[in-house]
Amino acid sequence: MALRAAEKGFMVVGLDTNVAVVEALNSGVSHIDDVSDDELKTGLSSGYRASNDPAEMATADVIVVCVPTPLSEDGGPDLGAVKGAATAIGEHVQPGALVILESTTYPGTTEEVFAPLVLGPGRQAGTDIRIAFSPERIDPGNREYGVKNTPKVVGGLTPECTRAARDFYAEFIDTVVEAKGAKEAEMAKLLENTFRHVNIALVNEMVRFSHELDIDLWDAIDCAATKPFGYMAFRPGPGVGGHCIPVDPSYLSHRVKAQLGYAFRMVELAEEINTAAPLYVANRVWQALNERKIAVNGARILLLGVTYKANISDRRESPADPLAKRLLEWGAEVRYHDPYVPEWTIKATAGKKLMCEKDLSEAVREADIVVLLQAHSEYDLDGIAAESSHLLDTRGAHFASTAHVSRL
Ligand SMILES: NC(=O)c1ccc[n+]([C@@H]2O[C@H](COP(=O)([O-])OP(=O)(O)OC[C@H]3O[C@@H](n4cnc5c(N)ncnc54)[C@H](O)[C@@H]3O)[C@@H](O)[C@H]2O)c1
Repeated sequence: MALRAAEKGFMVVGLDTNVAVVEALNSGVSHIDDVSDDELKTGLSSGYRASNDPAEMATADVIVVCVPTPLSEDGGPDLGAVKGAATAIGEHVQPGALVILESTTYPGTTEEVFAPLVLGPGRQAGTDIRIAFSPERIDPGNREYGVKNTPKVVGGLTPECTRAARDFYAEFIDTVVEAKGAKEAEMAKLLENTFRHVNIALVNEMVRFSHELDIDLWDAIDCAATKPFGYMAFRPGPGVGGHCIPVDPSYLSHRVKAQLGYAFRMVELAEEINTAAPLYVANRVWQALNERKIAVNGARILLLGVTYKANISDRRESPADPLAKRLLEWGAEVRYHDPYVPEWTIKATAGKKLMCEKDLSEAVREADIVVLLQAHSEYDLDGIAAESSHLLDTRGAHFASTAHVSRL
């Protein structure tokens, strides 16, 4: 977004507390999959630069906040970065500025947590400083929809705040949608992500009993997807990952529980099913090996693609970790290949570290079973299927026509 704004003639400063990130950006090295070094360098020569000096905010007309909103140890919202950013803004922001929060969070954060720190005592939202929420809607790896052509939802604390945010984004985004207020904009984002979470859980649950009933759910989904109205296809997988789907719905359920005292049952159920998905894959690995009279204990298992989605390097909350952990606990010899991940420290395994297999073809041939977790476009699935003794395809990416290839 910073680069799109710079292209339009804005002077943009990317402010980050991480000095290494700032230095890399200023030297033309991008840490974001979807932003190439060349694109960054073009930005650097046309109005963009990075900084770690919060005093830069004193000269800003617009401040956009997109700091992380992870879960805390107890599974609740961790708004530490949002509060930290808001406090720094409050110390430097000048009257008349527009301040927009983009971090995904529960409805009410902008008004109740963010704005008081930005405004401090005596300043009013709308008159002194305009404050709005606008959800980040980036889909990493998506080549069709980027910042410019993905509609942007904005909701301010006052109608004037909404208008100011709309006018700002309209400078470099094709479509800007005005929400009734900040709470509705916050809720829109959580609705989008909860919708995905719940629908992925639906097929992840259906795939289990479909397998037992000998029904090809993948085929049923393809058939259902031909309905031109009232249906949207979601496909099973090894579990949900990334910073959004496994995390954001928890912000909403936490809010409902904390404020109203009751559970958001759809989210809790979806979490239960999607969290169990990697362990279901482990069971299917066990079953596939068992059919060939091979014990998991000592078996050589090759995992392909350990990021949370295809064609990106982000590993946050990847289902590959709980799957590998379970297989290691069962005594398997786990190996992996991922063109985006040179080395992998498996979460919750006392620092078990693996190096990416150098020769994919050899690793496939040596494995007792190959498990496709992410169908990166680099993978020749026909070749992998032909060379493997068994391929378990958790993505439905390879048409399962032979006895030694199975889909989840
Ligand atoms: N990454 C995505 O695809 C995506 C998509 C939609 C929504 N979001 C939301 O956007 C927000 C940011 O996500 P992300 O993936 O970009 O996070 P990230 O962790 O990759 O990046 C956030 C950056 O913020 C910096 N930071 C932390 N605290 C700061 C502070 N007080 N001041 C300045 N910089 C600070 C960090 O150093 C880091 O470089 C989250 O709320 C996330 O849910 C992300």
